[in-house]
Amino acid sequence: MAGRRVIGAEHVERASRRGRRHLEVLPGAIVTDSARESAARLRIALRTGPLDRPAVPVPDGTAALVRGLYRRGAKWMPPGRPRGRSPVRLGRLALVGAGGVGANVAHLAANAGLAEEIVVVDVVPGLAEALALDLVHASGLTRSRSAVSGGADLALAAGADVVVVTAGRPRAPGMDRADLREANRRTVRAVAETIRTAAPGAVVIVVSNPLDEMTAEMLLATGFPRERVLGMAGTLDSARFREALARAAGAGVDEVEAMVLGCHGPEMVPVVSRARVRGAPLERRLSRAQIDACVERTVAAGGQVVALRKTGSASIAPAHAVVEVLDHLRGARAGAVPVSVRLDGEYGLEDVVLGVPCLLGPRGLVEIEELPLDESERSALACAAAAVRARIAEGARPEAPAS
Ligand code: 2OP
Repeated sequence: MAGRRVIGAEHVERASRRGRRHLEVLPGAIVTDSARESAARLRIALRTGPLDRPAVPVPDGTAALVRGLYRRGAKWMPPGRPRGRSPVRLGRLALVGAGGVGANVAHLAANAGLAEEIVVVDVVPGLAEALALDLVHASGLTRSRSAVSGGADLALAAGADVVVVTAGRPRAPGMDRADLREANRRTVRAVAETIRTAAPGAVVIVVSNPLDEMTAEMLLATGFPRERVLGMAGTLDSARFREALARAAGAGVDEVEAMVLGCHGPEMVPVVSRARVRGAPLERRLSRAQIDACVERTVAAGGQVVALRKTGSASIAPAHAVVEVLDHLRGARAGAVPVSVRLDGEYGLEDVVLGVPCLLGPRGLVEIEELPLDESERSALACAAAAVRARIAEGARPEAPAS
């Protein structure tokens, strides 16, 4: 037995305290009975190693450089691939909701192998299991290295490092995102309560609509710090804005830098003053009427898909936007990405959830970038904040008794 590593309960407990869901057992190591009991109790998987370890990102000064450029330059830096560091592979990614967006996120995430385990949960019996099975079958071709499973029990999200919440009703034609508030608030609150206890260390990405209000609900119901509750919408709206500008200017989307801040609703703020096409301000490439049309197209984009589909909303672009946020979390993208977070004085706004450019890391929000906006954009951001606050206040008002 000399020289063989003995794994005891203390090793399992240490791994649990560090938030690990797996413990590597190298060939020849001895695992004591008490270690096995602790592992079962603490839900730590004992894996025969050596495990395929995620590379730990080494700070290479990229974030600091990007921040410096932000402060000095007039130009928004589009998120790029970080140089000289490897992205972290997520441990357990839980997707709550196996509808259009959830299914597409699962598919993209499995194909990219960006998590060791992907767990999909949906209350509709069989839906999440079917999706997981389909993806498992596909792995025979895709050779995905992510283990995918699914079920109807929210407890499956236990121990997740990141939980993406897409659960809730989608819009129907003619509906505003705010019309979903009451129905989806109940869903988000129930999901939040499970996350709070089952995945207390998770970073939560909210996708359910109305996005900013549901992100605020998730913050409140989990009690998590703002760093770990992010709303995904600005990433999607920015993608739509870039595509609209590229098309109008006859440029490639990769030649356009632009982002949308504020809320995910009619009051969203496409930031025209900082947008660039082939490095030039918009006014040098497009007429005022063309710019206004791009802004309108961006605001109306989600509704157009709903109107055409009749049942359900967009799913592919939102799923890509979720993966973009996941990539920022795990260090596969550098720079800031627009995400909804609670503002604590940034942009002169407090105690409201709104989309702003954020630098992200494995534990969520690292820093909010404060872009210099022009006067009209600053007031549009304040209007978006007022609209989100008003909708939350309206939802909190007790219903009038039926007469
Ligand atoms: C959208 O804008 C679903 O809200 C989402 O397409």
